[in-house]
Amino acid sequence: MTETRDSLMAAARKAAGGAYAPYSNFHVGAALLLSDGTVVTGANVENASYGLSLCAETVAVSGILAKGERPKLEAVAVTGGAPGAPGEGPQVTPCGRCRQVLNEIAQLGGTDPVVWCDGAEGVLETRLSELLPHAFGPANLG
Ligand code: THU
Repeated sequence: MTETRDSLMAAARKAAGGAYAPYSNFHVGAALLLSDGTVVTGANVENASYGLSLCAETVAVSGILAKGERPKLEAVAVTGGAPGAPGEGPQVTPCGRCRQVLNEIAQLGGTDPVVWCDGAEGVLETRLSELLPHAFGPANLG
């Protein structure tokens, strides 16, 4: 598990290097581990119309679902910080919208992924169900 965490976080940190975040200067990377061992990454993509900015987790999830894939999401690693220095500040937990976006793909595949959040004080390990209890998802639409 520690090995998985470290390699997934390394992928997230690498992904943060691709962030387009000229407005916040806060570069975020996310890495999603699927049950077949595939790792899909994303970085935040901001916009001159600030509110249209996309978070790293959302970019990663969109990349999977837009290909028609419906995999089992096993784990998520998130990091962020100043350019070139991911994980060197306070722990980065997924924002509320990203929790909901992650929940969509998790519920589709029937998993409750472990979520690792990078930070200078260490990596926080949690579960999506802990970050978003009583989540509303596809199943709630009946
Ligand atoms: N951000 C993410 O990419 N993911 C999160 O879960 C938290 C916030 C981005 C959005 C914005 O581009 C920057 O971090 C600062 O909020």
